[in-house]
Parts: sequence; C-alpha cells; structure tokens
Amino acid sequence: MDKKTFYITTPIYYASGNPHVGHTYSTVAADVLARFKRMQGYDVMFLTGMDEHGQKVEQNAQKNHKAPQVYVDEIAENFKSIWSAMGISYDKFIRTTDLNHKKAVQKIFKKLYDKGEIYKGKYKGWYCTPCEAYFTDAQLNEGKCPDCRREVKWMEEEAYFFKLSAYAGKLINYYEKFPQFIQPEGRKNEMIQFIKSGLDDLCVSRTSFKWGVPVPFDEKHVTYVWIDALSNYITAQGYGSENDEDFKKYWPADVHFMAKEIVRFHAVIWPAILMALDLPLPKQIYGHGWVLFEDGSKMSKSKGNVIDPKILCKRYGADALRYFLMREIPFGMDGLFSNEALIKRINFDLANDLGNLVSRTATMVEKYFEGKLPAAQKSAPLDTELTSSIMELIKSYESKMNSFKFSSALSDVWLIISKCNKYIDETMPWQLGKSKDKLERLTAVLYNLCEALRIISVLISPVMPEKSKAIQTQIGVSQDLITWNSIKTWGLLPAEVKARKGDTLFPRIDMQTELEELANLSPDVIEKESFIGIEDFAKVKLIVGKIKECEPLKKSKKLLKFLIDDGQTQRTVVSGIAEFYDPSELIGKNIVLVSNLKPVKLCGVESSGMILASEDSQGKVKVILANESMEPGSKIS
Ligand code: MSP
Repeated sequence: MDKKTFYITTPIYYASGNPHVGHTYSTVAADVLARFKRMQGYDVMFLTGMDEHGQKVEQNAQKNHKAPQVYVDEIAENFKSIWSAMGISYDKFIRTTDLNHKKAVQKIFKKLYDKGEIYKGKYKGWYCTPCEAYFTDAQLNEGKCPDCRREVKWMEEEAYFFKLSAYAGKLINYYEKFPQFIQPEGRKNEMIQFIKSGLDDLCVSRTSFKWGVPVPFDEKHVTYVWIDALSNYITAQGYGSENDEDFKKYWPADVHFMAKEIVRFHAVIWPAILMALDLPLPKQIYGHGWVLFEDGSKMSKSKGNVIDPKILCKRYGADALRYFLMREIPFGMDGLFSNEALIKRINFDLANDLGNLVSRTATMVEKYFEGKLPAAQKSAPLDTELTSSIMELIKSYESKMNSFKFSSALSDVWLIISKCNKYIDETMPWQLGKSKDKLERLTAVLYNLCEALRIISVLISPVMPEKSKAIQTQIGVSQDLITWNSIKTWGLLPAEVKARKGDTLFPRIDMQTELEELANLSPDVIEKESFIGIEDFAKVKLIVGKIKECEPLKKSKKLLKFLIDDGQTQRTVVSGIAEFYDPSELIGKNIVLVSNLKPVKLCGVESSGMILASEDSQGKVKVILANESMEPGSKIS
C-alpha cells in the first residue's frame, strides 16, 4: 500500500547574504518534523532552498564585483554547507535560478495574464533603492525611508498587477471554513485585520532591474519577488513541467513553516495566486516567532555574541544547537538566543541529565556484568511506576510533536530522563552490586534503564539524530527495536543485551572560559573567520590610477564608466557610485585601483579593475583618494 505523504517546506532564503543562526531556526524545526514524520511512517517531502532574484541580490553581487549568478552560486553553497553541518535532511533544494523553476514561473505568469488575473498598470511612489520598496506620502518618515531613513525618490514605472483585491472575501471565507489554515491562532486574527483594512492589487513586475525571471510576453519586465518566490513550493515538485509526478503526489503541502514577518505573503498572496490558478491551497501556514538576540534585533551584530551556525556547530556539535533551538523557544513565540543560554542547556540538560544517565547505565552494565546483561529479571513496584509513566509520556510527546509543540515534547522526554535518574537514586544499583543475592534485582534495574534509554534514543532522534545513534550504539540495540512502533511496547530489548560505554556524549563546558574565548572571536565573527594572511593580501595589486574620463552608463542608474590611466595604458573600469558623484567631479583625481581583478562585464561593458571606496553607516559612499603627487601606476603597499 502507498504510504501517506507529508509535504513540509521552509521559506526559501534570500541569497543576499550568508546564513546566521536565525535562518537555521525554521530549517531545524522543519527538519525535526520531517524526521518525526518519516519515523511515523509517512512518505515525506521536505523542501528548502534559495530565493535568488531581486534588486538587492543584484546590488550585492555588484558590490562584490561578481556576476549575479556567480554570487548566488556561492551563497547557495554556503547555505548548503551549513545545512549539511547541521544534519538537515531535506529531500529537495530549490533555487529560483533553476531553469525549471524559471520556465514554470513564466507559465504561471502567462496563465494568470491570459485569465485576466494580471493586468498592466503604473506603479508610483517614493522609492528607496537599498530597501527596494515603494512608500506612500503617509508612510515616509520626515520625507525619508521609514525603514532605513535614507533619501527616497519619486518613481513611476509601468508594471503588471495581480488582482489581489478581488480575493479579500474569498480569503476570509476560506479562513473561516478551515480554521487550522493559519496557525498559531493569533496570526490568523492579524491576517483577518489586515485584509479587512483593504487589499490593494499587487505589483508583480519591475522594469527597474534585470535580475529576475523575464515576463514571457513583455521582456523588459521581470517578475517581482513574490510570484517568483512563492511558486517555488509547486515548481520544485514539477508544476508547469512535463515531469510533474511529485506535484501530483505531494501537493497540497501539509505545512509551510516560516517566521511571522512573512506570514502575510503566505496566508494572503499565496492562497490568492493558487485560487487564481485553480489549484488547491496548502493545508497549513505556520508562522513561528523570532529568535532574538541580546540587542533585541533579529540579527545580532552585538559584541560577544557568536551567532555563526558554523562556528556554533564546530564548538558544540550540531545536535546541541538543534536541541537548544527547539527546546529554548516554544514554537510560535519569540525567544532569546545567547551563547550563555546555549551553554547552560548543554551543561544542564545534555551533559548532566541525559549524558550522565547514559554513562552511568553503560558503566554499570560494564562494571557488574562485563557489558552483557543476564536474562533473569524481576519486576518491583518502582519498575511498574517507571514504565507506566514512560508509556504515558510517549503518548503526550506524540501528540505534541504532531501539533509542532517541539519544546514541550522535549520537556516530556526530559521528564522521562529525570524519572530514570531518580530511579537510579532510589534503586541504588551500586548497593545492589555489593551482594550476590541482589544480582537479580540489579539485572532488572539495569535492564529497565537500558530499555528506557532505547525509548529516549528514539524520542530524541528527530532533534538529535547523531547523539541518538551514539546512545543506541552504547546500549547495543538492533535496528528493528528503534522504530517508532517498537517503542510503544515496553520490554522488547532482549536479555543479554550488550552495552558498552562510549565517548562522553556531551562534554561539560566551563562557562567563564568559553565566554571569554567567544568574546575574543567577536565582534563580528564572520569577518574574523575570514581573516586573511599577509600572503593572501599580497595577491591584491593596488596602484595609483588617474581618472581621465568619466561618464554615466546609459543602461544603468548606478554605474559610472571610467577611463583610468594606470601608468602603462588607459583602462576601462565600471563602478557603482553614480548615486554619489557627478561624473565630472572625479576627473583628474588620483584614486586607489585594484589592478589585477579579473575583468567582468557590467551592463555590457568590460570592467578591468576596481576603484576603492568607503561606505559610512548611512550608506554614503566616497572614493578613497590617493596622494596627488604620485605618478599613475605607483604601487600601493
Ligand atoms: N525570501 C523570502 C522568503 C520567501 S518564501 C517563498 C525571505 N527570505 S529571508 O532570507 O529573509 O528569510 C526569512 C526567514 O528566515 C524567516 O521567515 C524565518 O523563516 C527565517 N529567519 C531569519 N531570521 C530569523 C530569526 N532571527 N528568527 C526566526 N526566524 C528567522 O523572507
């Protein structure tokens, strides 16, 4: 018989920068659920990926002097390598630059246009370039961008619009008919309020940048983020292509996970697009809370807090980080991340509670029975009390995992762990081990502990897959006894089970020393991590260049084209500083030129080199000038 399917997704992350611990939150949660559902016997499809188009990505690529595709390829690799370090078991990884996705997005766009759901209009407003957003008069803050406080400019552009306003009533009806559609409950109420305050049609194309999926019947437009991004959930499964078996098999998704700031897009725009395409809606949109940092932000730059998941995994292991994220912050709510809180969880929950239970049990089986428990067992009232409460807690755990209450489900597991530790204290196996006539009782106690560890190892496996396996190795349990169904029966572990003590599961961390070490990695670990040696720096050839000519690049609002005397010849360099300089301003100036940069084509012009400039916290850019008395071509060292 075919297995029941379960389709779960994370948001696709913007390829505009590298991942931090906040990004890992949704992905870890989705992974935990995917692993749990697989364990329950579902045919799981777990999708994650990258959102790689848009103006910000285009700009960041330019800043890094890379072609956008090269830039997003690198960022996607960075995300993938973090997912692999964190044990993320995704089934598919979609990138919006995948050819299949782009073709399918074009089909979707065309279909909506042909059905009259998309029409051509004019987009007007105050535009903030760095934020890629339009604002109305009322939204501006003292005439500036309300988000970043930078200058805005009035822009009008021809654009396509999706008739979102027509869906207000249908959406509200849908929410009423399917009360589980938006969860947690509070987010649903926000959505209802949002729709009732009036839905505008949605701008779904842009002409102001190029890095996107071209509108198939009007190529000067590219599709604007949300149609491109949201469609990933169906294009990844082959919607819009001939190879659409997975789409037929898995759609509609069982749940889309995301943080609360993008619930609106998933609960309003996405269902409306799907309705317009006559497709079924996902079964649930779940908007969890934010991982906040000590400075109250969503992405900490604050001193002393290390948030690079790669570093955290290297220092503490992926399972510890996964456990922390799932345990510390009840899913659906905001919570704080700090290195101190993480270390505390490792020391108390993992090293003390779980680690000790495993090592005490394995050590005693080794010590008293040379690693092999004899068959004889006898039950005492303490044992039945322990086993029946464990059986109850398994049920409670299952229902909590099914409703994504990961933290609370883990609390149930830790209740089992603490009951086992208490059982050791009460049965005092070290006393039983002293006299021969208590050996039978000792056997029973240790058997029960191994049996409990078998169950614990299965319950923690979605969250801590590696440590779960390590425990299973220590208690020598076979594969058939670590299935989901097997833990619902107590006493399956065969007598004569062979246990052996392994490496310490979670070494204790000295808080003070660790925090000091972390502080030395800060303030911005990612930058520290990319420290380069003098030999790397020596590869960069810096020289003085004299600007001979400068003109704007017709196809771009951002780029200036320079002719620069480098002492030997005059070379062309394109630089993204048009916003900050009048072309005539820099003529005759000596600047710092990176002269051995691989040439790249920017807006059709080959640029051979890079002009160094500095950028202040407001985003204002100034070129770094070299001493006027220096000859062009002089080496800068
Ligand atoms: N590209 C869009 C999503 C398109 S989905 C069709 C996007 N990308 S993003 O890179 O900004 O990712 C936002 C998502 O990353 C959040 O919704 C959440 O899933 C995750 N998080 C990023 N920082 C986070 C926290 N500090 N806390 C919790 N989740 C966080 O929006």
